Amino acid sequence: MKKNKISKNWINRQKRDIFVRKSKLEGYRSRAAYKLQELDEKFILTKNISNIVDLGAAPGSWSQYLSKKVSKAKILSIDYLKFEPIKNIEILQGDFTDEECQKRITSFFRSKLDLIVSDMAVNTTGNKNLDSIVTGELCLKAMIFAINHLNEKGTFVSKIFMGSSFNEIILKGKKSFKDIKVFKPTSSRKESKETFLICRYLK
Ligand SMILES: C[S@@+](CC[C@H](N)C(=O)[O-])C[C@H]1O[C@@H](n2cnc3c(N)ncnc32)[C@H](O)[C@@H]1O
Repeated sequence: MKKNKISKNWINRQKRDIFVRKSKLEGYRSRAAYKLQELDEKFILTKNISNIVDLGAAPGSWSQYLSKKVSKAKILSIDYLKFEPIKNIEILQGDFTDEECQKRITSFFRSKLDLIVSDMAVNTTGNKNLDSIVTGELCLKAMIFAINHLNEKGTFVSKIFMGSSFNEIILKGKKSFKDIKVFKPTSSRKESKETFLICRYLK
């Protein structure tokens, strides 16, 4: 398909998409906010929590949701892309996979974390297998960070692609967490291989 046709299709799909329209009305920077909202409604992620990390946060709709939902929490949002400030949110611009960036996260909190959410994904290359492998690596790195820095009852939520690294990630999660769920919100496009992993209670 030609590039022009792909972008026309994308624009038409955006116009038809109810979550795109809803996000404009409700002031969210992207439709992705509704994925976190659905995950929160189903798994009660944001009750009685105070330390939250949002990985791969730009342009910021998950952080906007968290800022409204848990306004008293300490929230640090990380992305290597710059994005507009959000009330109640501290932004750290950097590559999460850098050791220095991870040190800055831990020194910001100086205590264990209640919730780590990751919507990190690389720019799509057009090669779905490659995209899912690289995003899988990001998910694994985020999970390792979560294992080391969550408190015992903490929760780790991550985007994951149904692909070659899926089983390895689930296995790693099962070794370290008592409770693991996989859930695809209705706001996640059907044609996307994306789904979400919810891990809680460290072993
Ligand atoms: C799907 S977007 C996130 C959307 C966001 N959750 C929202 O609601 O606005 C994925 C983000 O992951 C970020 N990302 C990918 N790899 C990263 C890394 N190693 N460190 C930090 N951010 C990363 C990208 O820059 C991109 O902004």
